[in-house]
Formats: sequence, C-alpha cells, structure tokens
Amino acid sequence: MMTVLPSSRIPDPYEAPPLRWGVIAPGGIAANMARALQRSTQRIVAVGSRTREHAEEFAATFGVERAYGSYEQLVSDPQVDAVYVASPHSAHRDHALLAIAAGKPVLVEKSFARNAVEAREVVEAARAAKVACVEAMWPRFAPRFDIVRQVLESGELGDIIAVDATHNRYIPAEKAPRLYDPERAGGALLDLGIYPVSFVSFALGTPRKVLAAGSLMPNGVDRTVAAVETDFESHPGAVATVTTTLAAASAVTASIAGTEGRIELDGSMFFYSPGRVRLVRPDGSSIEAPEVGPTNHDALVYEASHLAHLVAEGATESPYLQLDETVSIMETMDEIRRQVGVAFPGE
Ligand SMILES: NC(=O)c1ccc[n+]([C@@H]2O[C@H](COP(=O)([O-])OP(=O)(O)OC[C@H]3O[C@@H](n4cnc5c(N)ncnc54)[C@H](OP(=O)(O)O)[C@@H]3O)[C@@H](O)[C@H]2O)c1
Repeated sequence: MMTVLPSSRIPDPYEAPPLRWGVIAPGGIAANMARALQRSTQRIVAVGSRTREHAEEFAATFGVERAYGSYEQLVSDPQVDAVYVASPHSAHRDHALLAIAAGKPVLVEKSFARNAVEAREVVEAARAAKVACVEAMWPRFAPRFDIVRQVLESGELGDIIAVDATHNRYIPAEKAPRLYDPERAGGALLDLGIYPVSFVSFALGTPRKVLAAGSLMPNGVDRTVAAVETDFESHPGAVATVTTTLAAASAVTASIAGTEGRIELDGSMFFYSPGRVRLVRPDGSSIEAPEVGPTNHDALVYEASHLAHLVAEGATESPYLQLDETVSIMETMDEIRRQVGVAFPGE
C-alpha cells in the first residue's frame, strides 16, 4: 500500500528542447499561451491572423517577431518549427490540416475538432505526413495528472466503481460570444464538457454506452449537459457521470472511486488545472501530493514542452494522449450531442 503518492515524472517544462512556434489565431487562449511560454525555452516567433492588424497587435504585446495577415503565410514561414492552433472549434480541422500540409508539427486546441469525422481526417493526414500532432488537452501533460496516472497504473484504488467530473461555469455571452455561436461550434459541451469527458476516458477508457440529456439555448447550442457513461471494456463494473454548463458555476471537481480508495481532485481552480492530488482510503485516512510547478494557465507550458520533447525524439504521437483516444473522445462527444439534439451548421 502506498504511504506517499508517486512523484510526477514530467520533466521541467522550462528546460525542454527549444522550438520556434507559430500561432494560428491570436485570441484569448493564444494570449494565455504566450504568457505561459515567456520564461520557457519555447519561443513564439510568428503569429497569423485573419487580419494583419490583429496579428500585429498580438506581436507587439508579446514581442513576437513576425505578424502575418493570413494563416497560410504563417504555416509557410520556414523559421516556424511548430504550429499552435488556437482558433474556434469550427476551424480546428482546416487549420490543423494547413499546418500538416506544410509539414509542421501541430498542437491543436480542445475540442480537437467539431466531431469525430473531422478528427479522423486530421489524424489520417498527420499519420500519412508523419507529422507530430497532439490535442492540447493541457492537464494530460502536467504533473497533477501524471501522479493520478501512476496511481491508476498501480492498481492502488482496487476495482474502479465510479468516476465523476463536473465543469460548471457561468460564462455570459458578453464575455465569450464564441460559446453562444453555433457557427463557431459553441456550447457548453465542446468548450467545457470536453474536460470531464476526457477525464473519464483518462480514468476508464472508452464507454460502449452513453446516456445523455441537457437543455439547449434558443439557437440550438447546448447550455447544460449531463451524461452517464458505462460499459467500459477494462472496467466492466464502472459508471461515470459528467456534467457541464455555461450558465451557472459550481466547484469544478473530479473523483475516481475504487474499492480500495479514491482520488479527489479539488481544492484548486479546476480539477484539470494545477493543484493537489488526494488519495482517501475507505477508513477515511488520506495521503496528499502538493501542487507543483507553474500555476493556473501558466501550466499551458507543459503541453508545448511536451510537443517539443516529441519532436526532439522523432515521435509523432503523445503516449499521454494518443490520437486514437482523441478520436474516441470525439465519438463520445458526438453521441452525447446526438442524444441532446445539437448539430452545428454544415455538419
Ligand atoms: N486550454 C484552455 O484552458 C482553453 C481556454 C480557453 C479556450 N480554449 C480553446 O481555445 C480555442 C480558442 O478559444 P479562445 O477563447 O481563445 O477564442 P477567441 O478568444 O474567440 O479567439 C479565437 C480566435 O480565432 C480566430 N478566428 C478564426 N476563425 C474565426 C471565426 N470564424 N470566428 C471568430 N474568430 C475566428 C480569431 O483571430 P483572428 O481573427 O485574429 O485570426 C480569434 O481571435 C478553442 O478551441 C477553445 O476551446 C482553451
């Protein structure tokens, strides 16, 4: 029985092999990434926007050398080693394909695409071109999840019975119009619910059965979604629940409960951001691993440095989130959307 939780095996993200990054779409998360990389060996050397003015504004704010008024110019820059796709979900497929066609390793924001068909298209292109491609599900590459990963691999929790993950936020339309826009594949599920759905996949694998319900906004975008996932191949007795909304905030927590103990991810900003890990035994005793490394969105540095390590090693997929899993997560998301009744324009 573990008396202390394992240490994270994730290397220091500030010492990763250097890459020269190009950013596609300088919006909110691209700014967070630029801040996260500032102290690191990863350098954003170019930014591409639909408008040159917006690219120049971002470049001036973050000291980026080259600003392009098109994404095509960005991926053609011979001094860009890797591309970060930070556009809305509706554009991920096209922008990832642009980077792959230019032979550039690519980190694609979550949700990886609008649906599994698009996700498969990107995965097939990346594999055919032998280009590294990773879904930017940032917790997978950070120390907190690596501690949980080792606990899961050790069998310390016994048989896993219940996994619960919640991502309920209050994000009004004025703050993030993208989330309310079907054209940009908005809604709670693709933006927020992807974290709990991905967490269940991390803990249990792919469910063969999904039951979902939710409520939609008048324009058909999902506001609130709840889903039960069951029938996991390697955990036949397990049940998972995921809930997400963009209309009300609650604690953004996750837990994995087994016959011999449970993992709790709480007490921090979000279960998927940096924070402590707690393992609680059936008798109520517990052991904890403290938060380590960069905090909050500065932890985006882990996914960028992870891609840098993959590129340096000549690898094209992450062992922490393989592309087959990315696709299977999108299949689960598709099934939830089908049951809730959400389809995006042009799908
Ligand atoms: N990891 C995280 O914690 C996290 C947090 C927030 C968001 N995200 C993800 O990051 C992605 C972007 O989210 P965001 O919040 O950064 O979005 P955002 O602030 O709305 O920025 C997206 C950018 O995409 C570009 N764009 C390209 N096509 C567009 C279109 N049809 N309509 C509008 N903008 C378009 C725009 O830049 P130009 O016009 O300059 O090209 C825009 O600034 C999403 O996949 C989201 O899920 C991740």
